[in-house]
Formats: sequence, structure tokens, C-alpha cells
Amino acid sequence: MEIKYASFVVSNTDVRKCPQDGKPEYAFIGRSNVGKSSLINMLTNHAGLALTSQTPGKTQLINHFIVNGQWYLVDLPGYGYAQKGRAGREKMHNMIEDYVIHREQLINLFVLIDCRHEPQQIDLEFITYIGEHNVPFSLVFTKTDKLSHSRLNLNLAAYKAKLLESWEELPPIFLTSSMKKSGREELLEYIATINAKL
Ligand code: GTP
Ligand code: MG
Repeated sequence: MEIKYASFVVSNTDVRKCPQDGKPEYAFIGRSNVGKSSLINMLTNHAGLALTSQTPGKTQLINHFIVNGQWYLVDLPGYGYAQKGRAGREKMHNMIEDYVIHREQLINLFVLIDCRHEPQQIDLEFITYIGEHNVPFSLVFTKTDKLSHSRLNLNLAAYKAKLLESWEELPPIFLTSSMKKSGREELLEYIATINAKL
């Protein structure tokens, strides 16, 4: 799929204020610093479209980007980022939950996992949680440029084995590096295939 243009539309803390035009949305979630915003920039070939940072907690809002005037990429705040204070944490949690569980336009949630680590409790819990709510999702292993091929394959196999302890089937899995721009075609084709069926 060719991305002819992509542009920022709106940032929100309130899901009710997100775009109401009913266009399909593909959102990115995962722990802070996993590379959600970088992946959006890589997919759209538009450095600086989504704001990135070396410091976790950069994205604090629900950000909508329109692609080819037809569908949205949605950049979400990371989970697991230690917000200052309980009120802040709760607000962020509610905002993510409202969007992920209740947003009708959400067609697929990409859950990003840093390929360097062994399965983390917080990610597994999140995957279970969205599974229980029947949210359609896929997994994206990020930062693959940081591992050798053999190490990556080992980590991936370990992750799949862990998932199969509680799931009968594996979700679609993508491997990406925003730095090397790898995995781009696969992800965009996946989105295009779903869009074609809508
Ligand atoms: P929050 O908005 O804080 O939740 O983080 P995020 O998930 O949006 O992460 P972001 O895209 O801001 O990237 C975090 C850091 O990881 C930045 O320093 C990026 O340059 C780096 N990074 C992201 N993707 C990759 C990648 O594929 N390879 C490498 N080597 N670094 C990456
Ligand atoms: Mg971000």
C-alpha cells in the first residue's frame, strides 16, 4: 500500500472528542519507550509526525493521524509509565481503557513489544485483558535492529511458547525496526487487506 499523505488531526484526553467521522482506526499501544511513535513515523515515512523521545512517557494523549484521507493511525500513551501521583495514573488508565475497549472505530490494536526482553508480566496481563474484551489485536516486536538474527529467533520462540500457555492460537505477529525501516511493507499490507474487507 502506498501512503500518499499522512497528517496530524487532533490530540485528546477524552475519547468522546476523538474524530466522529467513523473512519477505521489502527492504534498502537505498549509500554512507554517501546517505539510506538517511532513506528508511526516509519510507516508514514514522515519523521517528526508523531513526537518521540528517549525518555519514557512522551506521548500522553490520544493522537489521531489521517492517512490518504481514508483511515487513521492512532498513537496512544504507553502503559506502565510511572505517572506522578495516583490521580494522574488513574486518569491515564481510564483514558487508555476507554479508547481500547470502547472505541467502535478501532479495527485493530497493535500491541508493541520490545524484542530484547523476555515476556513481561505487564504485557501479558494487557494482552489477556484485551483478549477478554474481544479487542482485535496483533503483536509487533520492535527494535529488531538491536538483536542478532539468532537471538531474535530465540526471543520470539520464547514469547510464542509463553502465549500458547494461555491462548489456543497465536495472533498475527510482525517484526519491525523503525531505525532500519524493516517490517513496513508487511504491516501496511496487513492494514490494506483489512481495509479492503471493510
Ligand atoms: P512513549 O510515547 O513514551 O510511550 O514512547 P513510545 O513507545 O512512543 O517510544 P518512541 O517512539 O518515542 O521511542 C522511544 C525511543 O526508542 C526513542 O529514543 C527511539 O529513537 C527509540 N526507538 C524506537 N524505535 C526504535 C527502533 O526500531 N530501533 C532502535 N534502535 N531504536 C528505536
Ligand atoms: Mg510515544
